[in-house]
Amino acid sequence: MIAVDGPAASGKGTIAQALAAHFGLPHMDTGLLYRAVALNLWRWGGDPASEFEALRASDMLSIDPVDDELRSEPVSRIASSISAYPSVRTALLDRQRQFAGQPGGAVLDGRDIGTVIAPDATAKLFVTASAEVRAQRRVRELLERGMPAHYDDVLADIRARDERDTAREVAPLKPASDAIIFDTSNLDRDAAIAEAIRLVDGRLAHSHS
Ligand code: DC
Repeated sequence: MIAVDGPAASGKGTIAQALAAHFGLPHMDTGLLYRAVALNLWRWGGDPASEFEALRASDMLSIDPVDDELRSEPVSRIASSISAYPSVRTALLDRQRQFAGQPGGAVLDGRDIGTVIAPDATAKLFVTASAEVRAQRRVRELLERGMPAHYDDVLADIRARDERDTAREVAPLKPASDAIIFDTSNLDRDAAIAEAIRLVDGRLAHSHS
């Protein structure tokens, strides 16, 4: 089982997908679960400041991963705040653990995969990059999707989200003690993927010996 954690726009999603394809494993983007709760809450007009309402929005989740709104800025902001609620995290735990525990293995990416969801993962990568590089990547990605994006706003947003994800009491964003810290600031997409495969191969080889 491969755990890929890291902050917003670090490239962890791209890397997790590429690892899954390379090793022939199923992949779960766990951020989508939090985003789906946020979108549910938003559509239903619930209050993100209420843990109770956020928990209600976690019931009966139906996720359409191609729904563009899952990745919109308002939904990203709400996802970041509702992910601090312990009851919401608990509500999403089982389906992540089941996915992680499936025979043959899996790749999961998120914030707490190596620390909470799958502390026994064979290989753990903590993918990171400077806030400036991540803001540049996010701007490019938003513009490519035809969405408005301003570098300064995106950078401020990334910093605020880092702060919330790192400072929360439950499952804060922090590398597992046995995670490999992988900084992608100076690597393009292909180089980052190649290096991630090399790092994970090293861990897998180690675990078989
Ligand atoms: O990875 P992402 O940006 O799609 O995640 C959206 C939000 O969900 C993010 O602000 C942090 C939260 N999240 C989390 O708390 N734990 C996870 N395993 C994945 C995401």
